[in-house]
Amino acid sequence: MLTLLFVPLLAPFGVLARPTSFSLGQLVFQLPSSPVVENGVAENDVTPPPPPAFQVAPPTTPIRVLHQFDDLRLENLHARSNGELILSVINKPMLYILDPTKQNSKPVLLHEFPGVTACLGQAEIAPDVFAVVAGNWTEPGSHTPGSFSVWSIDLTTRGKPKVKQIAALPEANALNGMTTLHGGSPDIVLIADSVLGALWKLNVTSGEYKMAFDSPLFVNSTGAPIGINGIRSYSGSVYFFNSGQGTYGRVPVTYDGEWAGEVQILARIDTDGSWDDFDMDWEGNAWVATHQAALMEVTVEGKMRNTTGDGTFSMANPTSARFGRGSKEEEKTLYLSAAGDQTHAGQVIAVKTWLI
Ligand SMILES: *[C@@H]1O[C@H](CO)[C@@H](O)[C@H](O)[C@H]1NC(C)=O
Ligand SMILES: *[C@@H]1O[C@H](CO)[C@@H](O)[C@H](O)[C@H]1NC(C)=O
Ligand SMILES: *[C@@H]1O[C@H](CO)[C@@H](O)[C@H](O)[C@H]1NC(C)=O
Ligand SMILES: *[C@@H]1O[C@H](CO)[C@@H](O)[C@H](O)[C@H]1NC(C)=O
Repeated sequence: MLTLLFVPLLAPFGVLARPTSFSLGQLVFQLPSSPVVENGVAENDVTPPPPPAFQVAPPTTPIRVLHQFDDLRLENLHARSNGELILSVINKPMLYILDPTKQNSKPVLLHEFPGVTACLGQAEIAPDVFAVVAGNWTEPGSHTPGSFSVWSIDLTTRGKPKVKQIAALPEANALNGMTTLHGGSPDIVLIADSVLGALWKLNVTSGEYKMAFDSPLFVNSTGAPIGINGIRSYSGSVYFFNSGQGTYGRVPVTYDGEWAGEVQILARIDTDGSWDDFDMDWEGNAWVATHQAALMEVTVEGKMRNTTGDGTFSMANPTSARFGRGSKEEEKTLYLSAAGDQTHAGQVIAVKTWLI
């Protein structure tokens, strides 16, 4: 059993790619003593300790920083089928790409959008084709209503991605999270408008859009400028987190993304955290990036669990979460984008969900 665990657990650390640097045994021994990888460099990367007499698979680090940016702040992310992560930057109109399975992997600029300041929500609208929200939104409250548009980034061709505008949505106020429809029409994405308190429906094939529906349960509450934020579709409903109201809820939608029933609140945050964007696991549990420093799991029954660990790992304003892709282990690894705080810029954080 332990032996079987070795290769999949070690693969993300790049051991197999660098067989000459260390013996497998040395790295197995080192892992527990290098819990946090800052700036992509493990502390003891240079001088490995002598190998122990007996090898035992270590408890691997459940939460670690995969990449620390110097000045970019992250708002959202999505995994490609090959496992790479597409990162939305909020203080520049840029998308970066990062391979989370390689040790010390460096983010590479994928695209920079003209005439806007930020990238936000992402959704995969066809295999390896992504829709991305772009607009002027650098800080909560300092966005420009009417500046938002949705673009497609086609990564199916080699070399540079094919980028085109799907639609500008001048009537939108503050576009944020986006989702495709799980089991629904592949033409449709829904996009959260955090200030109007609405879901916009966009046909990514035709570029036609309209406000699908709004609700008092989607608006922001006094004090916080952001209402509905992260959205995901699962089994006939759209699930959402409302940052300002501190609520998690769902609304049934049709195959085409039309309103199909009452908005239902499933949970209310019971601490002073603020919910942002999230991903859902195969059982329908939401894993939500929570300001200022937490990852929380919320079940469909509304049971909440703070999954940040014992407090030894400090997150800097996580903004979204996505499960990895490309291998069984990646599918259980949750990646978080983080905006950063006064001392850190943006981060990409990896969480081994089976260890927390
Ligand atoms: C968005 O920001 C860009 C860059 O600062 C600016 O050129 C553009 O006019 C802004 N758009 C709107 C609608 O304000
Ligand atoms: C989206 O637009 C395409 C092209 O006009 C159309 O064929 C398709 O039926 C539309 N999809 C939906 C769900 O309305
Ligand atoms: C929502 O945020 C906007 C922009 O900050 C603000 O003008 C509005 O009053 C807020 N709405 C509520 C209900 O607090
Ligand atoms: C979750 O736990 C972390 C680590 O103990 C703590 O820093 C954070 O404040 C908690 N957050 C919430 C929202 O409960």
